[in-house]
Amino acid sequence: MGPSDGGLVPRLGVADTLRVALGVVAPTLAQGVIARRPRAMALAERFDLDGRAVTTVQQLHRRHGDGLVRLALPRRVALVLGADDVHEVLGDSPEPFALANREKQGALSQFQPHGVLASHGRAREERRAVNETVLDTPRPVHRLAPAIVTAVREEAREVAAHAARGGHLDWSSFSAGWRRVVRRVVLGDAARDDEALQADLDALRYRGNWSYLLPRDRTRRDRFRGRLSGYLERAEPGSLAGLLATTAGDDAEVDPVDQIPQWLFAFDPAGMATIRALALLTADLQEGARARAELADTDLDAPQELRRLRAAVLESVRLWPTTPMILRETTRDTEWAGARLPAGTAVAVYAPFFHRDDDTLDAAHRFDPALWLGDGPAGDARTTWPLVPFSEGPGVCPGQNLVLLTASTFLATLLEHHEHERVHPRRLDPTRLPGVISPFRVRFRTTSRVVSSGAPGRLS
Ligand code: HEM
Repeated sequence: MGPSDGGLVPRLGVADTLRVALGVVAPTLAQGVIARRPRAMALAERFDLDGRAVTTVQQLHRRHGDGLVRLALPRRVALVLGADDVHEVLGDSPEPFALANREKQGALSQFQPHGVLASHGRAREERRAVNETVLDTPRPVHRLAPAIVTAVREEAREVAAHAARGGHLDWSSFSAGWRRVVRRVVLGDAARDDEALQADLDALRYRGNWSYLLPRDRTRRDRFRGRLSGYLERAEPGSLAGLLATTAGDDAEVDPVDQIPQWLFAFDPAGMATIRALALLTADLQEGARARAELADTDLDAPQELRRLRAAVLESVRLWPTTPMILRETTRDTEWAGARLPAGTAVAVYAPFFHRDDDTLDAAHRFDPALWLGDGPAGDARTTWPLVPFSEGPGVCPGQNLVLLTASTFLATLLEHHEHERVHPRRLDPTRLPGVISPFRVRFRTTSRVVSSGAPGRLS
């Protein structure tokens, strides 16, 4: 650790900075921040790179304790090491800890320069309000749930039937159905098969992985935006675009069209979390049986909170966060524990460390849905310790409830009439889970099951 020069927050030495840069930042960037890269994720899985990254931060925490440490880099970057520090940084967003930091703005400018996540000040406030209204942020069951549940059930049934016919469920068949759900929920049924729109978004997102290092592809972005505008004008009832049209109309300050890409693209990691949740339920037979029991005697066509499946998805994003690096940027010189954090410092919360720190968290590497069900000591741990897969504070993910409704209903439908026997990862010990599993490689042997009246089936 270097001296706290000029009263600044302490700085790591060069060796520790290199450890963080190579062992934590590089694997996170390589796996793709905006669009995941399957090959890099396969490597990360094989060499447990995320598990090692957690150990690296854990070692720093053991040596330096709570607080923030600066990296010895030309770009001002500070890493958050303490639990209270996480709550404070996220709680004091967007002032003085702005969500729209330089790297994030660079990445998002490729396809949504006016999205709420890339915004600051008054524009941000207005955009955030519109997002919260359309995504129905506080409600576990979205007001458009009847249409959402119908779309999810139809597509998930098709995925399950297709998997049973072919004998297996893998990422490509899962995500094809998942993305049909997403386009229907966000843009309306008319967008169900709009693969051209999806291809443009995917291409723009891959550019986003490079942040401001790549110039913008204006032609593609204009085409993408044009198609989104078409859906917004169409304003299909029952879709988020329909709600957006009545909420924000064509408010120039909000730029409603630019709010939509985040909804489309953020649903991709939600699909990854869902297929991993299915893997978790096949790893822990007891929990699998409990989840099945919740479904027995339940009318899945009626929108509702499926608590156990929601908790399984929350565990999936706790164990394998889909936003591993939550970034902020100081808007002004800020005091931190008696030291100074200069304006323009990127502040990084590496969520996997907090979610998997076995120095502190009993359940660090265990599948433990009780953490989210609020029962017993596991539930209590969450109130003080930062489990922040959806972030927290004023910048918390406004789509969390919508994601959990969609993912739990999708899972319920996959489980309703089918058995899924996990093929990859072959070994998955629910008490010692690996640092990362690549969603692209998860695979099940799927068979359809003859339903016997109300009896919960078996997960293997
Ligand atoms: C597994 C699924 C998801 C996870 C884990 C997740 C997590 C997060 C996190 C951690 C943030 C904060 C990012 C930051 O501070 O830099 C965030 C922001 C956001 N998320 Fe999600 N998200 C998910 C899916 C979704 C979906 C499906 C939607 C919309 C339909 C959505 C809408 C948003 C929006 C609009 C923001 C920006 C909020 C703001 O700037 O105030 N998210 N999400």
